[in-house]
Amino acid sequence: MPAPSHDEVMGVLGGVIDPELGSDIVSLGMVPKVVVSDDGDVEVTVKLTIGGCPLRADIKREVEQRVGVHPGVRNVSITWGEMTADERSEVMTKARWNARQQAPDTEVPARTRILAIASGKGGVGKSSVTVNLATALAAQGFRVGVLDADIWGFSVPRLLGIGDNLRAEKSEGSDRAKILPNKRHVGDGVLEVVSTGFMIDEETALMWRGLMLTKAVEQFLTDVQWGDLDYLLIDMPPGTGDVQMGLARLLPRTEMLVVTTPALAAQKVAQRAADMARRSFLPVLGVVENMTAFTCDHGESYELFGRGGGQALADTIGAPLLAQIPMEPAIVAGGDAGRPIALDHESAAGAAFRTLAKTLAEDVAPPRAVLDDAAMAGCSARMLESVEIALGRAGSALTAPG
Ligand SMILES: Nc1ncnc2c1ncn2[C@@H]1O[C@H](COP(=O)(O)OP(=O)(O)OP(=O)(O)O)[C@@H](O)[C@H]1O
Ligand SMILES: [Mg+2]
Repeated sequence: MPAPSHDEVMGVLGGVIDPELGSDIVSLGMVPKVVVSDDGDVEVTVKLTIGGCPLRADIKREVEQRVGVHPGVRNVSITWGEMTADERSEVMTKARWNARQQAPDTEVPARTRILAIASGKGGVGKSSVTVNLATALAAQGFRVGVLDADIWGFSVPRLLGIGDNLRAEKSEGSDRAKILPNKRHVGDGVLEVVSTGFMIDEETALMWRGLMLTKAVEQFLTDVQWGDLDYLLIDMPPGTGDVQMGLARLLPRTEMLVVTTPALAAQKVAQRAADMARRSFLPVLGVVENMTAFTCDHGESYELFGRGGGQALADTIGAPLLAQIPMEPAIVAGGDAGRPIALDHESAAGAAFRTLAKTLAEDVAPPRAVLDDAAMAGCSARMLESVEIALGRAGSALTAPG
């Protein structure tokens, strides 16, 4: 049995999919070299996006199995390489492009700007930021969708004071029913809200039973009759990468807003950010620091959670620090009452949310990566890179004081 040709081996390797990037390793440019000896010994060089890539074992197994069973192959060996920053950028561009080609149709209008509110840690205020930013944008006259992607731990209904069940309706000329989001007028704008918290209705709930997290989010995007939204804000669940991966596949143009508190141990910030970047390749629009100093009635300010965490994270991932939301008991009360603090003109936190909305609407253009696949500004490839550097010097520049 003659040894296979170089091209035959490349063809076989074209069947090896990088599960995170969602494309095959050949078209992603991860296989710079294949050498086949006359005796059928195959040497494959695989370049990983990062040396410590957790998918290395999977890729190894796949490569060995697929090439190993090919007629004429006697032995398979793999040499591992690591991409340069430029190569990594290129792979991310390709992955994003592929994702866009394969993205299923969603009901979200093409012109809608999509912001996912995420964090490396639970309980830092993602949901509070989501509902307040959405409310502030609506108060400025925009039509804003709110998608509660925290499928089992939803808090958006309570924070917005909406308890109505979702209804489904057949649209004209279609025999498929679509879910109608719950609508609320805010000033001149409108909020359109969807959450599993609204799905207690048995008939509608049936559609959901047993679905995977990402499936649920997918259904929110494909089966909801969204209006002509200016913005869609997505409240991400804590501590899972699945939903982010799903989003990256379904809505590759999503931009991430990362929420953090002022003080976090350097290691943890960097590691979680790295993890987040690895699991998705969504561009990061900026950082929101929440629970910044508490100011008491006498005007004295206390940095209860320390200082500098937002800026440190922003520096680490190479994205701007867009807002610092003060710590304010009224946020909790407003959440419990279903009246977002963003509507309260006496509140400093409310003002901070309104400024953030204005900044986003007027000043912060989408990262170029969203507009132009060839550009990598703000992309998590860059984020990955700077996180690695930060990890290298972890504990020094990033340690938040106090
Ligand atoms: N700036 C703030 N000042 C005071 N309390 C706040 C502030 N931001 C959020 N909180 C409170 O902190 C708690 C956690 O906030 P929130 O639920 O928004 O976080 P989360 O990141 O969405 O949490 P999870 O990871 O569980 O989804 C809530 O009780 C909320 O009211
Ligand atoms: Mg939440």
